[in-house]
Amino acid sequence: MKNATIQTVAILTSGGDCAGLNAVLRAVTLRAQALNWQVLGIENGPAGLLVDPPEVRILRPQDLEGHVMRLGGTILGTTNTADPFNIQGKDQSQDVINALKKLDVQALIGIGGDGSFRILSRLAKQGGLNFVGIPKTIDNDVAMTDLAVGFDTAVAVATEALDRLQPTAASHDRVMILEVMGRDAGHIALAAGIAGGADVILIPEIPYTIEAVAQKIKQVKQGGRNFALVIVSEAARAAEGQTHQIMHQNGQVRYGGVGEALSAQIAEATGSETRVTVLGHVQRGAAPGWNDRLLAMALGVKAMDLVHEGRFGRMVAWQNRDVVDVPIADAVSRCNTVDPAGAMVKTARALGVSFGD
Ligand code: F6P
Repeated sequence: MKNATIQTVAILTSGGDCAGLNAVLRAVTLRAQALNWQVLGIENGPAGLLVDPPEVRILRPQDLEGHVMRLGGTILGTTNTADPFNIQGKDQSQDVINALKKLDVQALIGIGGDGSFRILSRLAKQGGLNFVGIPKTIDNDVAMTDLAVGFDTAVAVATEALDRLQPTAASHDRVMILEVMGRDAGHIALAAGIAGGADVILIPEIPYTIEAVAQKIKQVKQGGRNFALVIVSEAARAAEGQTHQIMHQNGQVRYGGVGEALSAQIAEATGSETRVTVLGHVQRGAAPGWNDRLLAMALGVKAMDLVHEGRFGRMVAWQNRDVVDVPIADAVSRCNTVDPAGAMVKTARALGVSFGD
């Protein structure tokens, strides 16, 4: 009989962290207990399986109750730099698979974004592993789900930043530029820009010209307002230009610098005084808001149900106010970017927002 003995599901968080990961772990662990499964947490994403002994620990509901589910980050740790198919040029995928098989788990749940899912589903295929994915990323760019865990909280942080920038902008007659994250998609900038009353929203999906941005700011001033708010996604780029990137000490390249570049250009083109705020990882480390907790619990429970039912190769998803599951292959087939003709861009335009196009 299937549930006569306790079965084990492994779980890991992979890719950049975000708010709500501990809440997902709580939901999976509670549901697993009810279904007579135990949960084996793998630390630091797949990298935790490449050390000897593997970095794993049994997760119990009491490890995640109380304050832990309310915390940002992930108690398991994560990494966005250890692709087992290419660790410093070496393919260590089979080592990860072998380590997982040695642990004698019946299934693997991965909490990740599209990049992590590509890696984990490839590992699952290669090793014949039973895999279920739970989408998380502040960027909200995972396909086939309306929402990924962490997005809502990141938008709340960015909106609050605009709320805090507005009074100081008005006090000093300044144009404030807020640079937010979003590796390939402008969802954070778009949502926070609308909610936070930005005059200009710049996203990677709609290339901008500095002339159009300057025109909007001049228009605001001619209308009698002494300040303006600009929100720019880190991956935004001018119609004629490149994206702005920085190389970190370890050689990793990340987006960054577009806010500073814009600041100088806007000051020159409009004569306004400008200041830049780069929100950075503040968007990731916040405690999850209620929407993210709710999503985390709903997706966590559904993922564990899929495991129990033996339905693998699936990603749990939030669609039209319902929790569903979709083939993981569909989820990784494309990136969910902002639709320039979609309802939110239309809403912003109707409110007078400029996208710099
Ligand atoms: O994908 C999530 C994300 O926060 C992106 O928005 C951002 O570009 C990137 O990760 C930053 O990565 P890191 O944590 O390596 O600086």
